[in-house]
This record gives sequence, C-alpha cells and structure tokens, in this order.
Amino acid sequence: MAIGIGLIGTGFMGKAHAMAYRSARAIMGDVPDCRLVALCDTPMANAEKFRDQYGFEEAFDDWRRLVEHPLVEVVSVATPNMLHAEIAIAALENCKHVWCEKPMALTLEDAEAMEAAAKAAGKVTLVGYNYLYNPALLHAKELIAEGHIGEVIHVRGYFDEDYQADPDLPWTWRARVRDAGLGALGDMACHSVSMIHELVGPIESLIADMQTVYPTRALADGSGRAAVENEDAATAVLRFPNGARGLITTSRCAWGRKNRVDIEVHGTKGQISFHGERMNELRVYVNEGPMARQGMTTILTGGAHPPYGNFVPAPGHQIGFLDLKTIEGAELLRAVAEGREARIPFSEALKYERVIHAMAESARNDGKRVTI
Ligand SMILES: NC(=O)c1ccc[n+]([C@@H]2O[C@H](COP(=O)([O-])OP(=O)(O)OC[C@H]3O[C@@H](n4cnc5c(N)ncnc54)[C@H](O)[C@@H]3O)[C@@H](O)[C@H]2O)c1
Repeated sequence: MAIGIGLIGTGFMGKAHAMAYRSARAIMGDVPDCRLVALCDTPMANAEKFRDQYGFEEAFDDWRRLVEHPLVEVVSVATPNMLHAEIAIAALENCKHVWCEKPMALTLEDAEAMEAAAKAAGKVTLVGYNYLYNPALLHAKELIAEGHIGEVIHVRGYFDEDYQADPDLPWTWRARVRDAGLGALGDMACHSVSMIHELVGPIESLIADMQTVYPTRALADGSGRAAVENEDAATAVLRFPNGARGLITTSRCAWGRKNRVDIEVHGTKGQISFHGERMNELRVYVNEGPMARQGMTTILTGGAHPPYGNFVPAPGHQIGFLDLKTIEGAELLRAVAEGREARIPFSEALKYERVIHAMAESARNDGKRVTI
C-alpha cells in the first residue's frame, strides 16, 4: 500500500518535499510508493494552485484538517518556524509520522515538547538536515572513520549567506523572535552543528558572541521602522570531549556568500574540507605518500560515492540541493515502511537545537562558557 502524504507549506521547502515524494522511488528504486493525499497553504487559492502543480489530491487552508485526515500517514511541516511545534505535536497526537523542517522550534522548550510527543506517539520523525545526505559528506565521514587524516584536532564550520546584507531590505517576520526564534543561528548555524556532529561528534562546551548588524529595518508599507530582534551573525569557540577544539561562525549579512555551508576537519595526519557552493567536491590533504606536501587534492563525486549514481550514471555531471532532499525523503519513506527510526529523528535534532541555544545563552552572558 502506498504511504499517504500530507504537506503543509508550499514555498521553498514545500516544493523540495513535494519533489522528493514524487521522485524518491523513481530515483532510488527500493523506496516504497507514496500517495500525495493532501496539501495545505494559505490562502486557499495558493493551496489549490500548488495542489495542481505538485499533483496532490486535495487542498486545505487549515492545517488542522490535514493532520486529522484519515488517509494521511506522513505529515511534512514546511511552514515558517513559528508553526513547527504546534503542527508537529498535533500530527503526532493524530498518529502521523512527521518530516519537519529545521530548526525544530522557536525555543528549546518547544523542541523538547516535540521530542516528548514523538516518544509518546512512537512514530517516525525526521528533521530536514539535508546536507548530511550529500555523497561528498558521506565520503568525508568514511575517510575520517578510516583514520586517513589521523586523530581530529580541530573542526571549523561556516555558514554564510547574504540574504540580509543589504541595509535597505525591508523588515520581515524573520527579524521577530515570536515568529522566527533565533536568527542566523536557527536559519544556518544549526546545519553546521549537524555536520560537526556527523563528522566529529557531539560538542562538550562552548563560548559565543552574537551581532545584530542592522538593529532596525524599514517597514515595507513605509509606515516607519521596526526592530531586528534576533542575531544577524554569531560565532562560537568549541571544545570536544577528546580535547579537540572548533569554531562555528555564521552570518546572514555576508556579501557574496550564497550558500557557504563549509566544513573543515583537521587531523594529526591531514585535512578534509567541503565547500557548500561546490557541493560535488571534497578536498583532502593526507601528509603521506606521493601527494604529501603537494597541497589539497580535489575529489569529484561520482558513481563511487553512493547514491550519486542513482541520479546520474556519469561522474562530473553533478547533483544538486533538491537531490539531497530526495535522498532525505527516501530515508523517511524507508523508515516508515520498515518501522524503524529515521536517520535524524527529533531526538538527534534536539541535540543540534541545544547547541544553537547554548550559543545564544553564552552570547547573552558576555561569552560565559556553556556546557552542553
Ligand atoms: N533544510 C533546509 O536547507 C532549509 C532551507 C530553507 C528553509 N528551511 C526551513 O523551512 C521552513 C520553511 O521555509 P521556506 O524557505 O520554505 O519558507 P517559504 O516562505 O518559502 O514557505 C513557507 C510556506 O508556508 C506557508 N504557510 C505560512 N503559514 C501557513 C499556515 N498557517 N498554514 C499553511 N501554510 C502556511 C506559506 O504560505 C508558504 O507557502 C523554515 O522553517 C525554514 O527554516 C530549511
């Protein structure tokens, strides 16, 4: 039986989820079929437009009707942050599996309530840490685990974009704590945290600083200015249980950066680095053999780096952001069919959420060390 899908929110991420559901089986093969039962957006005209465009059967403008729909088994939460907790908890209470976009919630308390609801419901949950499914990153994980760069001594995670770099951009809900929660930390740095956890492991403690570059922005209707309540940028210095040190730095005011979701892992024998704007490449330096002292080597992903070959048989042709979402969607559908935990369930994503909130806490307390 095909798995019944309900999608809430049809914007950037809603489209990515819809495409993942539509193509996961065609691309990956061993993925259960799904049925696109219903989607929800506001106003209703928007929902109807995307019902037809994405190929869903029904359209709603009230998400409560969707999470109660008897044919919906999986609910995708692709709305702005302020709705994640309420929708995810309601869906779990209605015995649905949940694929929720990051960050989980506005506050750590809400994220904890989501995790508690997931435990109580015993359903599959998955949070949208799509970069973890990149074949290049999976290869980096293997190389580190096999000891090619030796013992990890430091790690650096960067996530910069320039979507708020222009001081003349109008104020939006993303600047208001009750709508967005954290700023650059919730939008971007949580991805860096996920990649650091994946490649190196959990962070023990940190000290952090934050910056709001433009404290007010003009209202779009010309009626005045409103406060930017959350951070445009943040940086933390990290400590790991094995003594390794690290850095996370993020900015939404970084002119010229479009998706700089970069990570560098330095070890006693070499280094691995990944640059988000060149997502089909991994750069490696190992200080032994003929390549020693010759600088970084670039590995271009291809058939040797699964599941790249599911998308294109030829190396160098490259996969893209939406393909990562398809791999993530396939993981969710397989976990539902197999009755097992998905790769990044609420319990794992909650750990990343703790780190970004620890960064905010440290910064608010003038750089006090916070233990995670
Ligand atoms: N995983 C990633 O890499 C990634 C990238 C971008 C955004 N996100 C996350 O995805 C989420 C959505 O971001 P986006 O960029 O897609 O935003 P978006 O503005 O493009 O889309 C949000 C959608 O939610 C709809 N919506 C708002 N209120 C609603 C309601 N009450 N009922 C139903 N629909 C409603 C909007 O009409 C819109 O279609 C955010 O939490 C964001 O942090 C994740």
